[in-house]
Parts: sequence; structure tokens; C-alpha cells
Amino acid sequence: MAGKLWQGRFKEATDKLVETFTASIRFDQRLYQYDVEGSMAHCRMLARQGLISEEEADILIQGLSEILREIERGSFVFKDTQEDVHMAIEQRLIEKVGEVGGRLHTGRSRNDQVALDIRLFLRDEIKGTDEDLRDLQQSLVDQAKKHLGVIMPGFTHLQHAQPVLFSHHLMAYYEMFRRDRQRLEACLQRVNVSPLGSAALAGTSLPIDSALTAELLDFPAVSRNSIDAVSDRDFIIEFIAAAALVMMHLSRMCEELILWSSTEFGYLEISESFCTGSSIMPQKKNPDVAELVRGKSGRVYGHLMSLLTMMKGLPLAYNRDLQEDKEPLFDTIDTVRQSLKILARLWENLSVNQERMEEMATTGYTMATDVTEYLVGRGISFRQAHQTVGKIVRYCLEQGKELQELTLQELRGFTKVISEDIIDLLDPKHSVNSRSSRGGTALEQVREAIALAEKELST
Ligand code: ARG
Repeated sequence: MAGKLWQGRFKEATDKLVETFTASIRFDQRLYQYDVEGSMAHCRMLARQGLISEEEADILIQGLSEILREIERGSFVFKDTQEDVHMAIEQRLIEKVGEVGGRLHTGRSRNDQVALDIRLFLRDEIKGTDEDLRDLQQSLVDQAKKHLGVIMPGFTHLQHAQPVLFSHHLMAYYEMFRRDRQRLEACLQRVNVSPLGSAALAGTSLPIDSALTAELLDFPAVSRNSIDAVSDRDFIIEFIAAAALVMMHLSRMCEELILWSSTEFGYLEISESFCTGSSIMPQKKNPDVAELVRGKSGRVYGHLMSLLTMMKGLPLAYNRDLQEDKEPLFDTIDTVRQSLKILARLWENLSVNQERMEEMATTGYTMATDVTEYLVGRGISFRQAHQTVGKIVRYCLEQGKELQELTLQELRGFTKVISEDIIDLLDPKHSVNSRSSRGGTALEQVREAIALAEKELST
């Protein structure tokens, strides 16, 4: 027998198929650093509590730090027979330091150990994801600042609606990512709880000090119920749900990057270094990065569904099903963080076609609402004004003209309350700046939003 740590009660060797099927070591080796860190803190606590001697703790900690170096050097071989990262490290420790290695697992179970490892790991990744979100926000703010004043058509139903500042549109994404960061911060509070001391499910009879291990590992809280602590994966699901929202936001942004860089829109040009070509059509320059991020949102949604489904119906406490938490979590982290990083760079490597945006900003009667509001300002009821301007638009459609191409006489043909001052109003700049309600597209509002964002990003 391969000398499994749990072999005591077994007479027969594990079937090879079972060994491969049950092993998580191929993917959970990613947690090695946290497994070692957790074990070291556990050792210190054991010594402090007199459960092992100080000399024994030193030997164990020394052994663990050597193992850490072996793994980092690539000389450590992870084998399926070791089942998971926890047993691989413990086995290697016993191999290195002899019998005293067998004291490491005192007052601990793999059930609280694995929960601890994922929490330590996820805590770091949440901080990393937050930084990635921050960097993307910074790229957006940089573009918003650089192009402040550029006017484009704002859309509803993907139809021209009203002129808006391009920067205002970019800052809308800033807000989405701000909420994403708040969600991560809230999630971190639930992740940042030490489950160590819960042991297999019931706690332990040994005089451990779980507050001390929590303190050594910089956890502000210790779990309050051992049965819950070893079987809870809410914190992972919560993270993936937050990540799914990030991906949804990224996907929407990518959809616009793709549309806006098309010949039909021509608003943006993504730099060649962020595009790919076609194997058959020599002229092609495709926005594959944006398409892939849009596509990858699907896999993160899938991971959310798979974990919700995996947890549903699980009796308390630990069940091996829980091992299925890792691959979806790891893939979610890789997907969301890569997507964030690459899009931040993409925004830095893109040019804006101001002329095209501004040409389109006034086509499609985008200032019809301005005329309506003008009439309201002249005492006409909103509904009446809406009717009148609707008629003006119909007239334009028939004449093949834009609103701003109509003469004052033509306009006055619809209502005599229109006078000379309407001409200034039919300027997109005027239109944009008049929308100065809080959070509106007026230059002053957007300038303020950018300044606030810069302040937020610098803290
Ligand atoms: N590899 C396991 C997991 O990821 C570790 C915990 C195993 N515990 C057990 N009682 N078999 O969940």
C-alpha cells in the first residue's frame, strides 16, 4: 500500500480508478502556500498550548518551510496517490522530519484545514481582483479625462436618443465597477473568518486555542459553529456571484467595443496589438479580445450554477461533494482577473474617432427632446409639445432633413412660440450642457464625476 495517512482501518489497497477519481491534488496543489501557512500557525498554537513542545514546533515549522521551497523550486512531486495537497504536504513532512511530523495534525481535520486554505487563498484573490477592477476604472477615467467634451449619440433601444458626452458613457462603467468593488468588499468580510478548531465537524477535546490561530493568520473573526464552518461554502458562491456580475459588466462593455469598432459605427479603433487577423480574409482586423471576454462571461455564470447545484441538498456537515468547489472557483478567478487586466490595457490602446461620433451625435433627430423642452419652457404642456415636435420630425423625415437643417420659418410653421433663440438650442453642445441635473451629461456634471472618481481611486 502506498502508505496513506488514513490506511489504519483498511485491509485492501485503493482501486486505481478510485484513486484517480477521488484525488484533487492535480488542482488543489494551487493552495500549497496557504496550506503551509495555515499549518505553521497551527504548530505555533499547539506549542503555545503545550500540545507539542517548542522544539517540536521548530522542527515542524522548519520542515514546512523547506517543503515550501521544494514546491517553489519545482522539485516536489505531487502524485495522485497522495490524494490532496494537505496529505501530500503532511506526508512529505513525516518523510523529512520523522515521527514528530505526525504531531502536526493534532486537534485538526482536513475538513477545517481545507476550509481554512480556501479562505486564505480567496482573501488574497479578492484583494487582487479589487486591484484589477481599480486599474480598469483608472483606464476608463483616463480616457474620460482625455476626451472630455467629445459628444456622441446616446442610445436607448440601440437607436439614437440624445447627445451625450463620450466621457459620461465611460463613467457609467466606472459606476458599475464601483459597485462590483463594494460587493467584493462585503464578500471579504464573510471570507475573512477562521474555521480552524472546528476539526472534523464537532470541534476537539484537545485544549487548542482557535482565537490564537486566527490572530496569527490575521483573521478578525473565528467561526461560531463547527458544523457550519466545515460545510459552509457560501463565501465561494458569493464571490462567484460577484464575479458573475463583473463579467456581465465586462460583457456589456465588450459588446460596445465590438459594435463601436465596426465599420458601421466607426467610433473607436482598437490598436492592432489588441486585435487578431483572419486565416482567409487578408483585410480582417478582429476585436477577438472583446469577443472572448464576452464569451467567457458564460463560463463564470456556469460556475455559479454548478456550485449552487452542488450545495443544494447536501446534508450537514462535510461531504466529499465539497471538493468540487475548487475548479469552478479557480477558473472564475483566472477568467475574471485576466479579463479585467486585458481590458484595462485595451482601453489604454485604443483611439477615439471624435469626428465620427460628433457627426452621428446630431443625426436621427437626437435633439427632438431639446425642442420639446424648449416648448415646455414657453408654457406649452409637455404632451402638447411632444405632439408638435413629433409632427416636426415627421416633416423632417419627409423632407430628408435633420432638425437643425430646418429654417426658422419652417419651424414657426408648426407653432408660433418658436423664435430665433431656438437656433442656439439646436447645437449638440448646448443640448449636452443643458442636461445638468445631478448625474446628467452636462460637462460640469461629468467633470465633477471624473474628479470624484480620481479622488476615490487615489485613496
Ligand atoms: N480534498 C478534500 C476537499 O477538497 C479535502 C478534505 C477531505 N476531507 C475528507 N474528510 N475526505 O474537500
